[in-house]
Amino acid sequence: MPSPELLNFRTAVDAYRAKLKDECAAVRDAQGLEDLHHRYLSRKRGFVTALFEDLKKFEAGEKPVAGQLLNGLKVEVQEALTALGGRLKASAKTKVEIDPTLPGERRPWGAAHPLRIFQREIESIFQEMGFGIEEGPEIETDYYNFEALNFPPMHPARDAWDTLYINDNLLLRTHTSPVQIRVMEKRKPPIRIIIPGKVYRRETPDPTHAAMFFQIEGLVVDKGVTFAHLKGTLEYFLKRLFGDKVQVRFRPSFFPFTEPSAEVDIECLACGRKDPACRVCGGTGWKEILGSGMVDPQVFKNVTIDPEQYSGWAFGLGIDRVAMFAFGIPDIRFFYENDLRFNRQFHLK
Ligand code: DAH
Repeated sequence: MPSPELLNFRTAVDAYRAKLKDECAAVRDAQGLEDLHHRYLSRKRGFVTALFEDLKKFEAGEKPVAGQLLNGLKVEVQEALTALGGRLKASAKTKVEIDPTLPGERRPWGAAHPLRIFQREIESIFQEMGFGIEEGPEIETDYYNFEALNFPPMHPARDAWDTLYINDNLLLRTHTSPVQIRVMEKRKPPIRIIIPGKVYRRETPDPTHAAMFFQIEGLVVDKGVTFAHLKGTLEYFLKRLFGDKVQVRFRPSFFPFTEPSAEVDIECLACGRKDPACRVCGGTGWKEILGSGMVDPQVFKNVTIDPEQYSGWAFGLGIDRVAMFAFGIPDIRFFYENDLRFNRQFHLK
């Protein structure tokens, strides 16, 4: 049977061992390490040193046992403090390697793509007028892209939209107009929205054609909406975009989903309507910017909005084409080549 003294001694040794572990974990710097060293191993006051004093009390029979316990603790303390010293040195070293006087790592700022800049500009003009923004899917059904917009099946008007079909029923939308239908199906008037998005056509790329490009659609539906609202709003919009003085003209046109329909031109900013040989406007003096019109009553019927009660107008414009004109960009393909030297050149005043 070990004596009560030996049992007590063992408890004390174990307690210091546990305490040491916690204390080591709390040390953050060299000073802390030194304090710890002092408290455990100092010749005069160290816990371990004091325990060595206690050894004297043991009988010859138990002394070696107690001595072994204590030596074990001492070795553990020394090893723990050495390891702690190593850990502190390693973290101090990493700290020194950071030179706070060096300039920070430069992260190149991304810049908005010119098309996006232009899209946002258009969006903000309409948002100021109280329009909301809606989006729709790029893969559409024949119904939304054509039929609900009053293009009957096999109707020749479909030929004007060179369509990329996925199968008999699915296609890549050729315009943002199908989103008009989707919105009117789920929401009753008043509606005042614009719809930006990508559209796709079966085009051979050339300076003015791309197989994918961007449009913005607009739709207003309410009681008592007239062509005067269409005209006033679009004129205001174009003057905000191109400047107060810009001349705007409306030409009669045809779209299956609007009646009457109008195309809207602005004067050629490149030649000021003065150069019969102008490359930008082909000498006509005008540049077509968008298509528009009063929503056809048949379209309202297709979404169960009563055309006797409600009327509306809509428009659609190609963002690429308008941006090319505004920025003087000669080739639509520049937008899609990801050449930063090109992309960085454009911002609105
Ligand atoms: N969706 C037509 C196109 O892609 C543009 C358009 C014309 C949209 C008249 C309209 C509109 O909403 O009223 O050519």
